[in-house]
Amino acid sequence: MKDVDTTTLSADDWDELHFPRPEENDFDRVVENAISRRGFLAGVVAFGSGAGAMGTGLLGSTAAHAVTASRFAFTPIAAQTDGTVHVPEGYEWKVMTRWGDPLFSDADGYEITDGGPVEKSDRIFGENTDGMETFSFQGHELIAINHEYPNRKINLPAAQEGVPANADDVLKLQNIQGVTVMEITEAPDGWSVVKDSPFNRRIHHNTPMKIVGPAAGHDLLKTEADPTGTTSLGTMNNCGAGKTPWGTYLTCEENFNGYFGSSDENATYDQKVADGFKRYGVKAESWNGYELFDARFDTSKNPNEPHRAGWIVEIDPTKPDSTPVKHTGLGRFKHENAEVTLAADGRVVVYMGDDERGEYLYKFVSNGTYQPGGETEGLLNDGTLYVAKFNDDMKGEWLALTPETTGMDEADIAVFTRMAASKAGGTTMDRPEWVASSPVAVEAYCCLTNNKNRGVKANAGGDDTSVNAPNPREANKYGQIVRWRPANDDHAAEGFDWDLYVMAGNPTVHSDDRAGSANLNEGNLFNSPDGMVIDSTGLIWIQTDGNDDNEGDFAGNGNNQMLVGDPITGEIARFMTGPNGCEVTGLAWSGDLRTMFVGIQHPGSNWPDGGTPRSSVIAIKRTDNGLVG
Ligand code: FEO
Ligand code: CA
Ligand code: CA
Repeated sequence: MKDVDTTTLSADDWDELHFPRPEENDFDRVVENAISRRGFLAGVVAFGSGAGAMGTGLLGSTAAHAVTASRFAFTPIAAQTDGTVHVPEGYEWKVMTRWGDPLFSDADGYEITDGGPVEKSDRIFGENTDGMETFSFQGHELIAINHEYPNRKINLPAAQEGVPANADDVLKLQNIQGVTVMEITEAPDGWSVVKDSPFNRRIHHNTPMKIVGPAAGHDLLKTEADPTGTTSLGTMNNCGAGKTPWGTYLTCEENFNGYFGSSDENATYDQKVADGFKRYGVKAESWNGYELFDARFDTSKNPNEPHRAGWIVEIDPTKPDSTPVKHTGLGRFKHENAEVTLAADGRVVVYMGDDERGEYLYKFVSNGTYQPGGETEGLLNDGTLYVAKFNDDMKGEWLALTPETTGMDEADIAVFTRMAASKAGGTTMDRPEWVASSPVAVEAYCCLTNNKNRGVKANAGGDDTSVNAPNPREANKYGQIVRWRPANDDHAAEGFDWDLYVMAGNPTVHSDDRAGSANLNEGNLFNSPDGMVIDSTGLIWIQTDGNDDNEGDFAGNGNNQMLVGDPITGEIARFMTGPNGCEVTGLAWSGDLRTMFVGIQHPGSNWPDGGTPRSSVIAIKRTDNGLVG
């Protein structure tokens, strides 16, 4: 482990380093699944073969919502390998804001070179932009946006090689993550941040939060600093996002485990706590070294602190003094995003992925219904969590996580949701990233980004991760997008039909199942779908976070990118490419739908301005100022 540079590891690679899972050699089981896999892939190929396949796919009745085929208003672009952003002819992009830009004039002149100072590090736009949502409020255009994790090799002084040397280093890392809420405005020369707007706000690792829902006040959430178990500090590893019908922002805590460490390698814990640490990946060695200078993150001193992370947090962007709320009713896991929609009767449905190899896809259904202008408190906690089970016959069911189905009480189901899902018998998935539901059809999609352990190793709970119908490739390098249509056109229904919208791959290199589905070709190939949003017309915007070395299995793939998919025809076209080294993540539209805001996270070159690489938000428009979504 000492030979590995942990400052440059992704969160999932960091987890792998600490949890080398046992090899499985169940030859019979693998063969059996491989046979059913061949049958299944034939179905995908038929579905994905372009407009001619319309109506023959499982979800062919989506055609009821069809406008016309080939709805893309652009000429697709080629893969790129350079250090800048590309968009189609007739479109333009500009940087709106970059890591380190001041949100308040008292941070004017903040300089990120050599890491930047701790002073005012909570008054600037944070690092590593991720999920975002826009809000139009009383004539103001607001945007809330996540800052997922720190590039320590860049944002600590170079000589320290990414390791915090003192409490100020830790505080700076804590300040540049979390969430930014800010007002933005458009002028003839483009979009910019309204500096000193009363809506501007940084929420970071020390911002006071309320904890509500079934686990609030439980012993597992109590600490010396908070003996009530109902308040905590900060939100961390904020990945994807969501937006409620009542106009609040949901930020999703993903790889929270890596923020905690132990100053005592031999510390012992209650069995329940120890089991949870094992399933969620909390270890003595942390990712960021906070515990060296901040005892809150030292599990030998505060064993319950990790139970206060891994939640979905609600923020009201219109009330800069409001206290963010952690909703334990939505479960605790490595939350990717929170896709909120409504059931036929107005109950609130939240779809959520748990992004780790072989973990699960979830949904929450509220007991109460949403009434515009009515009371919304409690809607995200009073309800039922479900885990998805995908059957080989292209049908599936949502399995309720209740004391009856899991043998766990409601608080334990909330805190140890992964164990509850294992007990209920959900389907292990290839790293569920964003879920998107369609505003024009009752269907939803989930990016399954990749899973090198599929058919190779069990998940952290020991659950079977042999190939299965929605995750049909062993050692899956490329990823796929699964979609489902709820029974009775009702997102609250327990049954659904499903298929695979696309299997990513490389048809120029492979001719077996690694070639991907038929809607993938030399002109649109990609790997590792991650961010995903469906626009107001029903088109699917797909962002990637994958291998961009453009060689071998990934030859011709180019840099990470954003593509658009047509749900009816299966057609997919490349719309944008990011600078090399980056992940494209986060997408939202201006209120007039004439601008799309896209996040560029961890660019590898000196993008965007030739100096230190800076994660940034760009604004993309049509040159004729037409609609872009
Ligand atoms: Fe933060 Fe799973 O991406
Ligand atoms: Ca992601
Ligand atoms: Ca990812």
